[in-house]
Amino acid sequence: MSEKHATLTIEDKSYTLPIVEGTEGDKALDIRTLRKTTGYITLDSGYMNTGSCSSEITFLDGELGILNYRGYGIEELAENCSFVEVAYLLLIGELPNREQLNDFRGLMSRFALIHEDLIHFFDHFPPKAKPMSILSTMVNTLSNFYPEMREDSDEELLIIAARLLSKIRTLAAFSYKKSEGHPLIYPRYDLSYCGNFLNMMFDKPVKPYVVHPEVVATLNKLLILHADHEQNCSTSTVRLVGSAGVNLYTSISAGISALWGPLHGGANQAVIEMLEAIHRDNNDFEKYIKKAKDPNDKFRLSGFGHRVYKTFDPRATIIKQACAQTLKALNVDDPLLEIAMQLEEIARSDDYFISRNLYPNVDFYSGIIYRAMGIPTNMFTVMFAMGRLPGWISHWTEMMQDTKDRKIGRPRQVYLGPKKRDFVPIHERK
Ligand code: CMC
Repeated sequence: MSEKHATLTIEDKSYTLPIVEGTEGDKALDIRTLRKTTGYITLDSGYMNTGSCSSEITFLDGELGILNYRGYGIEELAENCSFVEVAYLLLIGELPNREQLNDFRGLMSRFALIHEDLIHFFDHFPPKAKPMSILSTMVNTLSNFYPEMREDSDEELLIIAARLLSKIRTLAAFSYKKSEGHPLIYPRYDLSYCGNFLNMMFDKPVKPYVVHPEVVATLNKLLILHADHEQNCSTSTVRLVGSAGVNLYTSISAGISALWGPLHGGANQAVIEMLEAIHRDNNDFEKYIKKAKDPNDKFRLSGFGHRVYKTFDPRATIIKQACAQTLKALNVDDPLLEIAMQLEEIARSDDYFISRNLYPNVDFYSGIIYRAMGIPTNMFTVMFAMGRLPGWISHWTEMMQDTKDRKIGRPRQVYLGPKKRDFVPIHERK
């Protein structure tokens, strides 16, 4: 807490509010006692301006386009690290040394299988079941299979995290295989986190899959870029659900459900569907730009805009570059890339988008890379969920370990319904 204070005046009476300053200079008014001292609450629909907690995990500056995990710039992490390394960083707060990383990888291998009884659950989803709904259900179900959970020490936390990180990858790949009606491919101890996932997705007894190093490198990068994003909708959901004392798996299952929405992680699927629609419409950009600008039309340019970023999304900059490189390396010529680039150019020179600070976000180009890797469109948001998992676990743990400020999440409201009135018996109602 800083020594600075702000003064709030309500009807001639002044109140002092403490100012809280973050390590990177972000400032907040501490209003925790406001209602008690003044009788007022603050109204902030969509939490546009509300800090729900203090956190040591991720720093984001939307004006400058900065994103740091535990103090390290996203650009350096994406360039130099593996996803497992970054997951360790988010969870523990420090980059692992070689031995720590090997141990963490060892835990991942140890936990890669899922209980065989879990596999039967897949059989009871209808053939067209949505992968995000399956994933959320299965992660919640894990709490019945692996109930022992204590996150008191770093060692225990790493075990819990490795188990979930490893199993979500197996669940995601199995759900795809089941949807295809193909035999399941089990995890292999000799493959990396990303290599294992790709192999479980694409290996077939009749046609062995060769893990392509370029694809592994790109997948690592994508997962790192999605690994945390401070108090976004799904992470806030994980924290809110967890704040009631709910176990990790169930809290994360709720986060997966929040991520599914097209305004959040579901945007990566919506982008591809939008680009495909433009392609089918003979690249009629004008039609889609017009729709996006029309206040009476619900259509929005998916993959554009962000609640926090107001100049550029640093993740999108890296992904755009990786997109072109990956397509080239895999010798994929996808017309959707050209459409995406043209759409970006048109939108970025249009006053509607400029004046509202609407730029491509993380989801705009990621889907084109997933397509090139052979990942089906309805699995894109599952990829986002796999990437975001270390962030969700880190936030859930940070909250659970906070004995000082931890409170059940319970916002207030301003009631605008009818005033108290007399009950009318049914025979007197008109
Ligand atoms: N296309 C057209 N207009 C837009 C868009 C868009 N993609 N995004 C915002 N606007 C307009 C909006 O209509 C509003 O206009 P006006 O001021 O005339 O009413 C203005 O811009 C402000 O929008 P908002 O809805 O108040 O902004 P928000 O901060 O509440 O919403 C957002 C942020 C990401 C939900 C929104 O930009 C959006 O719906 N984008 C498309 C979906 C998308 O790509 N989501 C992924 C976000 S990044 C991944 C993640 O971390 O979740």
